[in-house]
Amino acid sequence: MLDTSIVKLLNDQINKEFYSAYLYLDMADFYAAKGLLGYENWFKVQAQEEMAHAMLFRQYLLNNGHPVELNALANPTKTYKDNKAPLEEALKHEQFVTASINSIYEEAMTRKDYRTLQFLDWFVKEQGEEEMNAEDNINKYNLFGSDAKALYMLDQELKARVFNPPSLVI
Ligand code: FEO
Repeated sequence: MLDTSIVKLLNDQINKEFYSAYLYLDMADFYAAKGLLGYENWFKVQAQEEMAHAMLFRQYLLNNGHPVELNALANPTKTYKDNKAPLEEALKHEQFVTASINSIYEEAMTRKDYRTLQFLDWFVKEQGEEEMNAEDNINKYNLFGSDAKALYMLDQELKARVFNPPSLVI
């Protein structure tokens, strides 16, 4: 059995991961409306990754004999002023998720919950990658986004992203 404070944080994290999927799907829709189908694809794949993260937290709770609480999701629909704005918003969001994972990690350390710490190790590493990818998108847009031909090539490149299920098995 896990401590009730850990169970609450893990349930909250399920909601945050599904919200992330909603947020990225909304960004995909923004780019689809602009005809930037590579960016649309990149964020659609990102939404799939987030749903996979949510499912890992769900499975971890179930494996430890705890009920899952699926709470209401917030409406992610936002207005973006230009093509770069979602990229910056995505980085901010990943930093928020990193902080959330870190706070569960801190609680697990306080509770000497070594099982949860080991489970979270994968997410700590994953968040490093997620932030790096979000920064990479911003850097590339800064370099090429203002040139129509270069943006076309970049958009083509982003079309190649495919969903790979998480390497973590629980
Ligand atoms: Fe599941 Fe993008 O963090």
